[in-house]
Amino acid sequence: MLMIKYILIKKIGGGNFGEVWLANDVSLRAECALKLLSQNDTSIDERLLEAQIGNRLKHNNVVNIKYADIVQSGDSTNSIVMIAMPYFKNGSVVSRVNSCNFLPTNVGIKCLIDVLRGLEYLHENGYYHCDIKPSNILVGDNEEYILSDYGITCYSPTHSAVQPRQFYLPHTSPETISSNIYDVRTDIYQLGLTAFRLFNGISEIKSDFLSNRDCFKNAVLNGKVVTDSKYQSFVPKKIRRIISKSIALNPDDRYQSALEMRRALEQIVLKGYCSSNANGDIVYISRNKEYRFEVIPCANKLFNLIVYQKSVNSGKETKAHKYCQNGIKKSEIKKYIQKITEDLI
Ligand SMILES: Nc1ncnc2c1ncn2[C@@H]1O[C@H](COP(=O)(O)OP(=O)(O)OP(=O)(O)O)[C@@H](O)[C@H]1O
Ligand SMILES: [Mg+2]
Repeated sequence: MLMIKYILIKKIGGGNFGEVWLANDVSLRAECALKLLSQNDTSIDERLLEAQIGNRLKHNNVVNIKYADIVQSGDSTNSIVMIAMPYFKNGSVVSRVNSCNFLPTNVGIKCLIDVLRGLEYLHENGYYHCDIKPSNILVGDNEEYILSDYGITCYSPTHSAVQPRQFYLPHTSPETISSNIYDVRTDIYQLGLTAFRLFNGISEIKSDFLSNRDCFKNAVLNGKVVTDSKYQSFVPKKIRRIISKSIALNPDDRYQSALEMRRALEQIVLKGYCSSNANGDIVYISRNKEYRFEVIPCANKLFNLIVYQKSVNSGKETKAHKYCQNGIKKSEIKKYIQKITEDLI
């Protein structure tokens, strides 16, 4: 008897643990995503754990695993664990970054709030996600954000700290490096680093990690992975404060729950948002106007900061005189742009 349930259509992702394919469920005539986990020194039971955890999870902001099986590939010694889940055509949140590689401010906040709802549900049920990063946040059909990938998720029925099963090194927390422990506050830390990358540039942190691992490890242990000077000028203080608190060196100084962090984000009132246009210019959209900046060198190593405002309705562009600065030092440019950020966002 030959049974064919899925036909692979195209590969949509691949990471350290396997491949993800868009597939067709032949009997249901419906699309789905199939994750194929090959041997890689992990037992079948270990690989099936991802599916077993995901199958129990039922929440709008968390991916549910529908089906899993063990299949043989090529020579019959190679067992592949196959995990089926809904297919999200928008892919991960990485597909939502603009031409300057970050999420528009308003979208970033919505994404975090959604993920925190999912995370709260995981924590209530005794799970620590342990692998929170941009590529593990999927975008649903209604632009909702959904946490996925339970490949290294840990279960703690008593809600006490656990020893993580594996690490995503760029997001490893100080307490995991120093004491090999993981709890709710460690997921908060990982989400904080994810937030930093979403608002400042998706390759941030990962690039620091890749350029010098020892130096990066020291920065983690000293709480210096993110410092004030690493924030882009277009990230307003109200967001910086939340990110900085979520990645505090001491877990006691972080948000103590996903709910607490979500409440803090929900209190943010945005006057506008920052994104980038097709030319790669940073733009602020605020009070029906689109603002952009030009920095022009002038005499004596000084600069003019020129700010333009364009009416969103008429498209007419004029200078925003109240924000323009003449003859400022290079070191002052950031300070003036931050002031404008606070006023417009
Ligand atoms: N259900 C899905 N629908 C659409 N795309 C998906 C789905 N699941 C995963 N993907 C895509 O495949 C990529 C890898 O998926 P997944 O996280 O499950 O595998 P991984 O091996 O852990 O990879 P990574 O190291 O990126 O986390 C995701 O970043 C996403 O772009
Ligand atoms: Mg993943």
